[in-house]
Amino acid sequence: MTRHVDLRSDTVTQPTRAMREAMASAVVGDDGFGDDPTVHALEQRFAEMVGKEAAVFVPSGVMANQIAVRILTRPGDVIIAGKGQHVVSFEMGASARNASVQFALVDDARGELNVDEVMDIVDAEQDHQVAVSMVALENTHMSAGGAPWDLEHLNALARALGDKPIHMDGARLFNASIATGESPRDIAACSTTVMACLSKGLCAPVGSLLAGPAGLMTDARVERKRLGGAMRQVGILAAAGLVALESMVERLAEDHVRARKLGELVASAFPESEYDPTRCRTNIVAFDHPQARQIVFELTQRGVWCGTIAPRRVRFVTHAGVSDDDIDFVGEVLTHFTPAS
Ligand SMILES: Cc1ncc(COP(=O)(O)O)c(C=O)c1O
Repeated sequence: MTRHVDLRSDTVTQPTRAMREAMASAVVGDDGFGDDPTVHALEQRFAEMVGKEAAVFVPSGVMANQIAVRILTRPGDVIIAGKGQHVVSFEMGASARNASVQFALVDDARGELNVDEVMDIVDAEQDHQVAVSMVALENTHMSAGGAPWDLEHLNALARALGDKPIHMDGARLFNASIATGESPRDIAACSTTVMACLSKGLCAPVGSLLAGPAGLMTDARVERKRLGGAMRQVGILAAAGLVALESMVERLAEDHVRARKLGELVASAFPESEYDPTRCRTNIVAFDHPQARQIVFELTQRGVWCGTIAPRRVRFVTHAGVSDDDIDFVGEVLTHFTPAS
């Protein structure tokens, strides 16, 4: 088989040997009855790490976001969010379908939301406009190229919002922590609810966690059931999640170094994209190019698997399955690469 490097997503990661062993020997029970000790251990561990009272294990990041939307809003409410966020653009309209809410969208081209822009929408309630029930933000911000939020900026937004809840989509929360040197607890402190995925850079096969105040997490369990996400002997999966939280977080730094290298290669291969590799701080390289789809098609044929996340936006994601040697291989392909016009 011809060589290929899979940079389509960090969701392609494989569970480690330690995860498979932990899964094989996991003590399990019926989580529908709250009987699974491994699930309890995972939920507790995550809640501690992010400084929240409780957490709920769910099958996917989308479900964690959707549960947060359902417990923090009522039908007809408005959620302020960035245009490029997962909950807005990549969940198939789930928030409208599941919670009958609408979004008020603000610019998030660089990942962070502007505090004044957010507060203008909140204040418009006094001008006969619909009430905002929550703000959703993404950290790291995927479509902005894995951009982590600055902690000061997060705290400034939370101060301005007062009691208005924030949900943090921290699908890559641990990447944000490694890149900024801030603890997951400090990063999540501004938010009422926070979710993180175990099945991306942390390499677990399945699962995400949603954390927040105990009362809200009781509501979250009801919503998980309504969405069909309550599982039974799911300690099998939680066991892999525990290994992910205990032993896979620090490793993310390697993905970040490789992504920066990849960013430099992209900047030289596509100078017309004006991609600035110094903006790559975690594991995602995303850049705009008029021939994005053609680039992805041709690179994939040459063994560099990548994808588009918008009609003219290319994305590469590094992860545990990508080595230094793989990045050198990508470099060789890119050196001789010009997309057919
Ligand atoms: C920022 C962000 N949020 C949420 C999700 C959803 O996660 P899942 O694929 O587990 O549903 C993703 C998935 O790629 C993501 O990148």
